[in-house]
Amino acid sequence: MCAQTIAGNGSPAVDGRPDENGGTGGQGFVVVANRLPVERLEAADGAVRWQRSPGGLVIALAPVMRQRGGAWVGWPGSAGEVLEPFDSDGMLLVGVALSAPEVAAFYQGFCNATLWPLYHDVIVPPEFHRTWWESYLAVNARFAAAVVGQAGAGASVWVHDYQLQLVPAMLRRSRPDLRIGFFNHIPFPGYELFAQLPWRRQIVEGLLGADLIGFQRQGDVSNFLRACRRAAKLPTRGAVIGVADREQAAGAGPPRSGRALARVGEARNVRAGTFPISIDAAELDALARRPDVRARAREIRSALGDPRVVLLGADRLDYTKGILHRLAAYGELLDSGQLTPSEAVLVQAAGPSRERVDQYMRLREEVEAVVGRINGNHATLSRPAVHYLHHSYPREEMAALYVAADVMLVTPLRDGMNLVAKEYVACHFDERGTLILSEFTGAADELGSALLVNPHDIEGVKEAIVRAVRISPREAQRRMRSMRKRIREHDVHRWATSFLDALATAPGPAEPPAGP
Ligand code: G6P
Repeated sequence: MCAQTIAGNGSPAVDGRPDENGGTGGQGFVVVANRLPVERLEAADGAVRWQRSPGGLVIALAPVMRQRGGAWVGWPGSAGEVLEPFDSDGMLLVGVALSAPEVAAFYQGFCNATLWPLYHDVIVPPEFHRTWWESYLAVNARFAAAVVGQAGAGASVWVHDYQLQLVPAMLRRSRPDLRIGFFNHIPFPGYELFAQLPWRRQIVEGLLGADLIGFQRQGDVSNFLRACRRAAKLPTRGAVIGVADREQAAGAGPPRSGRALARVGEARNVRAGTFPISIDAAELDALARRPDVRARAREIRSALGDPRVVLLGADRLDYTKGILHRLAAYGELLDSGQLTPSEAVLVQAAGPSRERVDQYMRLREEVEAVVGRINGNHATLSRPAVHYLHHSYPREEMAALYVAADVMLVTPLRDGMNLVAKEYVACHFDERGTLILSEFTGAADELGSALLVNPHDIEGVKEAIVRAVRISPREAQRRMRSMRKRIREHDVHRWATSFLDALATAPGPAEPPAGP
């Protein structure tokens, strides 16, 4: 996808007059996510421009928003940045400002040092701080207020991800006319882990402000239903939760304070379901076929010394991704001589991420120490054993890396979906290439023809690498062909349409199901 430049701070497309529900924007469709779908670019002369970010969410939603019109509410991405709403390619972008203390307490703290590790199987210990929770409440309330300011009467609102779990109930409290959907991009943890959260009831009740709550996998839905029964004492039947006619904490006000309770209104049902997210497979396929991308892939292989096998890892530098596990397996294969650096080279691209959060700083040090050790033992003057790149790359370069790679290593310890696995498959129109995929990813449910591994089982990962390096072209083709069929048929457009269709018919006011 080509980066697109958008004029900054342009025309606010709101007329300033509140409609009957208190909204000023009159938008029929509002997306709200922690980040706006644009990145700030600052030229040498200080001029600021906004460039479309390459994220999957905007690819999925841009066509819907072009068709229906709509607003996208999100954080511009840096502390203190205040933005006037501006039009961008058929959608209105509405910035929610976060102060520097809020970035520390809400974003780095509650989102990425409490919820993120808690929802990813406590791979690192989550931290629980009451001041972080207060900030989560305040910031969620600000996002909800921004949505209220944009949504016209009866609008559909789609809330995204773990950063904004209180927004659905906050919205319902002030705007019962809205149809509200929520999609959780990351796993929802088992109750034994979720129960650690001091604010577990408020989170569940915050989510239950939605009419429809979407998850990546069936296991996430089951975990959430259990949390509804256990933390909020609500009845469930199938994937429907009965929200009773009673006073319900909607996340506003401090926990257990008894104040700022919201009336949810009449008894109603909330539906949960699985909607596995995907990629724009056709767009990536076309990108991978472009002559310049193919030429770049050849150039990459030649720069690597034209080894027989190029192995690739490409992730955000995050402890959930299992980077250390794959490095351990690869290092041991070199130590034992089962692989030689002249035969196989590993490229590990690790995109900088959440760099001010302690556990991410620690991980970076560990990864770099391990890479240094492997290269110290196995590199020659002309050839490193691991090419470690601490950068994010534009889409064209990522596509060229995927095309250049014979083996893709996707080894998360826990991952809601993992779109890198799907992107690799989409780029291999030649039906070559082998995907090694952790069974702890959402993608593993769909890409059963990958070589599935348990990343904790280092011997198993080593066997999969050796198998991928020596795989027959025929077997690789058979596996790749079946994975390509899946992602062609289940692309990101299908994901967005199926969620929005389900939202349009999601249960509204109704009798709650029978008790548990
Ligand atoms: C995951 C989350 C997203 C998040 C992204 C990047 O994919 O599900 O909500 O935006 O990581 O993380 P960041 O903290 O940079 O937004």
